[in-house]
Amino acid sequence: MPKIKLLNIVGARPQIIKSSAISRAIRLNFSDQIAELTLHTGQHYDKEMSDVFFDELEIHKPDFNLGVGSAHHGRQTASMITGIEEVLINEKPDGILLYGDTNSTLAGAIAAAKLHFPVIHIEAGLRSFNKSMPEELNRIMSDHSSTLLFAPTHAAFKNLINEGFRPENSPPYTIDNPKIYYTGDIMYDNSLFFAELAERKKGDILESMSLERNKFVLATIHRDINTDDTGRLEAILSTLKCLAEEYQIPFVMPFHPRTMNSLKSGLSSLLNDLRNSDYIKITPPVSYLAMTLLEKTCSMIITDSGGVQKESHFFKKPSIVLRKETEWIELVANGTVRLVDANPELIRNAFAGYIQSGQSLEYPAFYGDGRTSEFILKEILMLFEK
Ligand code: UD1
Ligand code: UDP
Repeated sequence: MPKIKLLNIVGARPQIIKSSAISRAIRLNFSDQIAELTLHTGQHYDKEMSDVFFDELEIHKPDFNLGVGSAHHGRQTASMITGIEEVLINEKPDGILLYGDTNSTLAGAIAAAKLHFPVIHIEAGLRSFNKSMPEELNRIMSDHSSTLLFAPTHAAFKNLINEGFRPENSPPYTIDNPKIYYTGDIMYDNSLFFAELAERKKGDILESMSLERNKFVLATIHRDINTDDTGRLEAILSTLKCLAEEYQIPFVMPFHPRTMNSLKSGLSSLLNDLRNSDYIKITPPVSYLAMTLLEKTCSMIITDSGGVQKESHFFKKPSIVLRKETEWIELVANGTVRLVDANPELIRNAFAGYIQSGQSLEYPAFYGDGRTSEFILKEILMLFEK
């Protein structure tokens, strides 16, 4: 059988990381059956938001980079659609692989579905039930343009059924007769694969940042609701600073450029206070291996990131999530994610609660067996079997 040609579409940091799990599985197990091309929309472009992952995760450089950069949603998504369409027409892949819920995901889904290329959505079915999030719109529209939908959790699989997807559909699968799967999570494949390597390659970070294992908190913030609303950002960061000083425990904060921009433009005196605090360590975004090491060795995670809250579970760390809702509802039910919005009192209570109960929490295997990428690729190959 001739090789099938898949076009990976990535653009934002977490998508580059996710696509590395699929690329690795192709390289190790399916290189005689699958040829892979990668298109980078250029949604993320700073070295530490993009190139660092290609270098570190041993994925080949993108075959196409649209270089769209930052803009309002409409302009950014439109530029991506235009560029993706051109590549699709020239390359004629057998299918396109989309990850997650960013504008790059949506642009790939629209461009491919309208040209009748099968869309394969990895991380399908997740819902926050909050359509004011751009990601929620991206998820729904991408799922409803897809032919194969890989849901990482039982909850995500159920959401698809509730939206009319039928698990009993039989081949041949098409956009009008899509196939849904419960798979597990490819991010778990990555965390298992890279945990050891992170220790070997990045273990010296702890010393260089004067951190002791299990004696620091890791915090990330990047969601638009938190970064673009000065009141929320101030409430969150002032509370974290107070907690760090009160409990005398270092907080490491690798800030997304969006967060740093908001601090510089609207909260410069708070930024100064944070920089002058003995217990706050602000850094630029760190590499994936460095992040893995920090997640593995911290005592607790505070975040509004989808990926980081799940990685907290992989590394058995309790997590405080700075949102009203989450797509990863099994973590809330499990008691290892607490949703606190941007509410100082809720943040404080969750923090104190975890300090007391941290050791007695359990972290069941919600996200598969670490071989989800292989499962996905086997199913994709079946789609193209003549
Ligand atoms: C995007 C995704 C979000 C995902 C996140 C992962 C959408 C709508 N949002 O959010 O779902 O969780 O990526 O990190 O797709 N910027 C830089 N350098 C960069 C990239 C961004 O300075 O390399 C700054 C720019 O000021 C830009 C802002 O960050 O305007 C936001 O970037 P954008 O890609 O629009 O959204 P994210 O917040 O990164
Ligand atoms: N990440 C990283 N460096 C950082 C912050 C995050 O490598 O400084 C990784 C993190 O380990 C996870 C992914 O980026 O794999 C999550 O991306 P992000 O939080 O930007 O987006 P989300 O998951 O919320 O879409």
